[in-house]
Amino acid sequence: MMKLLSLLSTTSLLYLASAQGTFDPLIPTKLRQTALASPGPNRSPQYTTANGTWVYFGIDGWTTGFFPATLYAQAERLRICRDRAVQGPWSQQEWLGLGRKWATAMLPLTQGNGQGHDQGFLAFPFVEELKINPQNQTAIKAVNDFATILANRFDSVVGATRSWDFGNPDAFTVIIDNMMNLELLYLSAGFTGNKTLISIANTHADTSARTFIRPDGGTYHVVEFDQATGGIIKRRTQQGYSDESTWTRGHAWSIYGFANIYRLAKKEAYLQTARRLADYYLGRLPPSYIVPWDFDSPEQFADASGAMVAAAGLVMLANEETSRANKARYYGAAKKLLKATSDFAWSPTWQSLLSNGTVNHPANNQLTGIVYGDYYYVLAGNELVKAGQAKC
Ligand SMILES: *[C@@H]1O[C@H](CO)[C@@H](O)[C@H](O)[C@H]1NC(C)=O
Ligand SMILES: *[C@@H]1O[C@H](CO)[C@@H](O)[C@H](O)[C@H]1NC(C)=O
Ligand SMILES: *[C@@H]1O[C@H](CO)[C@@H](O)[C@H](O)[C@H]1NC(C)=O
Ligand SMILES: *[C@@H]1O[C@H](CO)[C@@H](O)[C@H](O)[C@H]1NC(C)=O
Repeated sequence: MMKLLSLLSTTSLLYLASAQGTFDPLIPTKLRQTALASPGPNRSPQYTTANGTWVYFGIDGWTTGFFPATLYAQAERLRICRDRAVQGPWSQQEWLGLGRKWATAMLPLTQGNGQGHDQGFLAFPFVEELKINPQNQTAIKAVNDFATILANRFDSVVGATRSWDFGNPDAFTVIIDNMMNLELLYLSAGFTGNKTLISIANTHADTSARTFIRPDGGTYHVVEFDQATGGIIKRRTQQGYSDESTWTRGHAWSIYGFANIYRLAKKEAYLQTARRLADYYLGRLPPSYIVPWDFDSPEQFADASGAMVAAAGLVMLANEETSRANKARYYGAAKKLLKATSDFAWSPTWQSLLSNGTVNHPANNQLTGIVYGDYYYVLAGNELVKAGQAKC
């Protein structure tokens, strides 16, 4: 009977979520194996080698928050999935325990770290903790501390928070990825009542909308500003194919980032921007929906991680859409991205959930699993379930 039930649910999963892999029963098993196989929470999985084995980095890295955030996302999956059979024998408390163990190891980073603008990503596990336990003072303090570090990087002449401290020493360097960190400022403003944080977030979004997006809706990866005047020194790429190309993960960050700032600020201009970015992305996808690492590169490597960031961003945009037609279109595109990516990149055998990530093609680092690709894979699936668009 149990077998039949889980077979039935697998069938409806294939039909409704339309993707094997997306809610695969192997996901909890693999996440747990990664948690147990790791050298400890002071070492953080970032990407895999070509055979799917995790490479670990030290705790002070920009991706450290993603693995614990994935453990929290799995705990969330237990809450929202009616079919417990496909979610493994572990309780929600066990997932939270693992997530907390990894998050606790990150607490020293709240007192300073080397990650520039990436404070929002570092805060993810604490943000997740607060969704479950809103009174957790340790997590509230962590969110406020990370927000202060980010806010201290704001420059009012440029109108943005500085992304990197390296690169051109004469430039104030901002990257499109930085749109992902603005939610942190809103969350902290909610705890402290400090409205300056909201104004910093909105100003950063306004500056990004004005300077990163080309007339055709494609995006630059990096903008170097003159800190004295706020003028633009240079627009360029770091990880993309060329300065004038659109690196797909950067573009995915921009879709998610503008959908999110619209959700938070409810300013119509942000919705318009998010739509424009999403429509550009969907217009450039090949019919297969296998997302290349850069839309303009003749070197064909996929990037499953960017695809999953885009899928999660499209679900958020669809959730917030005021137009019914757009809502249906963005949910549809997110589901198609999840299905296509599951079909070619879901890996039952690697330590990561997905293969076919491109960490950095110019640095010859591709055909890997990537920790944030896995995170957005689980997140996008969860959010589709919560939106009534998929069943697990
Ligand atoms: C996977 O690759 C790494 C280096 O890229 C190597 O050290 C390891 O032994 C390989 N593991 C397996 C199971 O082949
Ligand atoms: C509160 O959150 C912190 C940081 O995530 C965690 O270490 C701690 O275990 C949580 N406390 C409780 C009581 O759950
Ligand atoms: C609000 O946040 C900004 C940025 O971190 C800070 O400079 C300012 O002192 C804060 N204001 C208050 C009243 O705490
Ligand atoms: C996915 O990665 C494998 C190697 O890990 C490769 O053989 C395959 O061609 C890749 N698929 C796509 C669509 O890039």
